[in-house]
Amino acid sequence: MINLFQPCVGAEELDAVAEVFQDHWLGHGPRTKAFEAAFAAHLDVAPEHVIFINSGTAGLFLAVESLDLEEGDEVVLPSLSFLAAANAVTTAGGRPVFCDVDPRTLNPTLEDIERALTERTRAVVVLHYGGYPGEIVRIARRCRELGIALVEDAACSVASRVDGRAVGTFGDLAMWSFDAMKVLVTGDGGMIYVRDAEQAARIRRLAYHGLAQPSGFGHAKVSARWWELDIPEPGRRVIGNDLTAAIGSVQLRRLPAMVARRKEIVDRYDQELAGLDTLLTPPPLPEGQESTHYFYWVQMAPGVRDEVAGDLLADGIYTTFRYAPLHRVPAYGPSAPELPASDWAADRTLCLPLHPDLSDADVLTVTASLRKALENRRAGAVA
Ligand SMILES: Cc1ncc(COP(=O)(O)O)c(C=O)c1O
Repeated sequence: MINLFQPCVGAEELDAVAEVFQDHWLGHGPRTKAFEAAFAAHLDVAPEHVIFINSGTAGLFLAVESLDLEEGDEVVLPSLSFLAAANAVTTAGGRPVFCDVDPRTLNPTLEDIERALTERTRAVVVLHYGGYPGEIVRIARRCRELGIALVEDAACSVASRVDGRAVGTFGDLAMWSFDAMKVLVTGDGGMIYVRDAEQAARIRRLAYHGLAQPSGFGHAKVSARWWELDIPEPGRRVIGNDLTAAIGSVQLRRLPAMVARRKEIVDRYDQELAGLDTLLTPPPLPEGQESTHYFYWVQMAPGVRDEVAGDLLADGIYTTFRYAPLHRVPAYGPSAPELPASDWAADRTLCLPLHPDLSDADVLTVTASLRKALENRRAGAVA
């Protein structure tokens, strides 16, 4: 099977884990601090704004919880979002309001977001589809003008930049996912960035039971009884640990090479799939933007896409569509108005295998199988 996503881990990560074992400290500790500091440097922000947690989903929940939504407050997000974003909003008592996207980049434009804003809008949550930064600069500027919080779901964009500035640092809060299918993996894990220092300190508490000081004698500030509790407000336990942090630090060092290999594969796909009127490949990145190249997505005539996915699977090639439209999910409340571009994209888009260990021969296998499937299924032009 040619995998769709595949973690790129090896001897260096194993060595790092072995060192943690030797130190007999697996929990949150010095390696967590070191990973946070290295990630902060990667973002070019101060380390106290960055918190290592146990998943990207936990980051979305913490980010939205920290907005203190009140009943009826609305949060705008693209319909083509990962479902945890909508779950975080509803769990925090807010109402998700889904907006449309650009049909080719699958990222929302500023105009898509503006159309969904009302006087009840408290926040906007956007992801960067496949690692493409999209209109994040315009969106961040407008949210700031309107006094609306902007949360960047940067799960796809750990290495994405606009004019050199890291994606995830444009809004007020951002989170990354390091789950087993991501570009930088720790098994499970995530990072959250919080622009405001006070809010960052609060989120650090909320991520660990709500404790003002972590437990243990090393942290006792006011009492010789270091086991006593100081809880300004209750929290949960979603912190990362030194085992996963050790893997994360190695992965962060390897990130440029892993992304460079992804880019080579993307260029190869572009080359091999050029000139087909039955298939659209991702649009070029705008000037000044860098992508993590998390997804390589193609678009084809409606109806044909599902058949092609089945044909590729029969050839041992795993594909999928990300992200199934949330405005079609009744659990998120009354259905949104028509979102034609999201529907258009959801019926035509397929993500092809993309990970650094894909060989050039694998890429040719995928493109040959895709071309054959389009011919066999008599695909028409993409419309
Ligand atoms: C865009 C996006 N946001 C958030 C998440 C959640 O991350 P995690 O799996 O680490 O909870 C994912 C995971 O697939 C994702 O793709």
